[in-house]
Amino acid sequence: MKVSVTSLDLHDLDVDLVIVPLAKDTASDALGAMAGALGDTFRKAVDDFDGAEDKTLLVYPDKARARRFLLVGLGEAGKVESETLRCAAAHAAKSARQFKAETVAFTLPDLGLEADASGQALVEGFLMASYRFMRYKSEPDDYKGAERLVLHSDSQDRVGRRGAERGRILAEAVATARDLVNRSPNDKTATILGKEIEKIGKKYGFEVAVWDKSVIEEEKMGGLLAVNMGSKEPPTFTVLEYRPDNAVNDRPVALVGKGVTFDTGGLSLKPTTDSMDHMKADMAGAAAVIGTFEALARLEVPLHVVGFIPATDNRPGENAYVPGDVIKMHSGKTVEVLNTDAEGRLLLADALSYAKTYNPELTIDLATLTGAQVIALGSEVAAVMTNDMEGGEERLDAIERAGRRSGDLVHRLPMYPHYAKQLESEVADIKNIGGREGGTITAGKFLEHFVSYPWIHVDIAGPAFIHKAKPYRPVGGTGFGVRLLVEFLRDYAQPKKRK
Ligand code: BES
Ligand code: MN
Ligand code: ZN
Repeated sequence: MKVSVTSLDLHDLDVDLVIVPLAKDTASDALGAMAGALGDTFRKAVDDFDGAEDKTLLVYPDKARARRFLLVGLGEAGKVESETLRCAAAHAAKSARQFKAETVAFTLPDLGLEADASGQALVEGFLMASYRFMRYKSEPDDYKGAERLVLHSDSQDRVGRRGAERGRILAEAVATARDLVNRSPNDKTATILGKEIEKIGKKYGFEVAVWDKSVIEEEKMGGLLAVNMGSKEPPTFTVLEYRPDNAVNDRPVALVGKGVTFDTGGLSLKPTTDSMDHMKADMAGAAAVIGTFEALARLEVPLHVVGFIPATDNRPGENAYVPGDVIKMHSGKTVEVLNTDAEGRLLLADALSYAKTYNPELTIDLATLTGAQVIALGSEVAAVMTNDMEGGEERLDAIERAGRRSGDLVHRLPMYPHYAKQLESEVADIKNIGGREGGTITAGKFLEHFVSYPWIHVDIAGPAFIHKAKPYRPVGGTGFGVRLLVEFLRDYAQPKKRK
């Protein structure tokens, strides 16, 4: 997919489809102006199109090189945000598919938003909505998506181009994450996942080291090894590192992603329908971290970032760990396993305590950790939690802000000390389940035992994989977290915000 910016006359745009995003208050004026250049049909369109959000109207110009124009409503001008543009662009992508348009142009709306942000949002929304997962289809799709995307703007050419380019890179990084989540479990064992990460690292320019089981044993990662016991497939632990010469941080930011390639629940077996059947998505945290590294490297974000991905499937094989087992973790703490389906926290805990060896300034983990998260916040908002070291409130403010800007929404949950009581064990330091009450929080509290640096935990169980399509998220893996993290880290790298 090629993305370019032009200030050619609208009349001279030679594309299959021109998308015109218009706000309510300005639609009729804009259409009047377009009528002059493109023909009277645009004047007639005024009666049938008022710019209300999500309303569209197709117009065939009397005199223009482009074959058709699609007007897309943005609602009230004063309320237009990046997310409005992403959703408008997603509508446009549906129409592009309907017409099998190979070349598509967007006019950059002249609203309160900066050209940079508008360009990014339109390209991001269009490309994310155009995503299809075709890996296992014998017949190729009869429409491969638009080949060329042109942003039309009268002025601010360069700024729009920068935003458009960023939008393309982000959408492609999201697609990388979606592809991994949508892959079938037998096509993404821990070993295969490690190889994929190596490939992506080579392609975009970050370091990757994949540890095999013997190294994991040397490191005494008892949590990851326990979860792996019921599997025939060995675990892997992958270390990613992106270290640009112009990094603004002395100590790295660490990202940790849950890489459970399939979660049967283990001996605490999950029922199939609506529970086990989509557990191929249990490595969505890992996928989001991988996509984030891709984007950071391609956008040349000036930050030193390391990543850790503990990976295994969770199965009830003959040697599987059992409820009642006490295991010794990488940190040295002991855990009484009372439910083998609370496996994510065990391997994340090992990765989080290993992250300490890098002396990170901040660590963020992403994980499809609890069903309770879906119940609490649904499938469009992830839960965030933090520890009380150095500026917890500011961290939560910053990640929630990044969520609103990126469209990957997050909302904070409390971490009051009393929640930790639910994890007290009779026989070990802690147990791995805290009962039904506050399940997402007690999972966060479990992880907190293994961190010793400023930390943000993001539970993406709901938003990682969806069963009903959203404007720019088709059914399946969403790539949730990539744009959240990139937005957060780009902001974090701003020198003025650093002490
Ligand atoms: N991978 C699941 C959580 C999950 C549930 C992700 C639904 C996506 C959608 C996790 O490993 C799990 O099984 N959690 C248990 C924990 C419980 C046993 C304490 C859960 O939430 O039921
Ligand atoms: Mn589980
Ligand atoms: Zn799981």
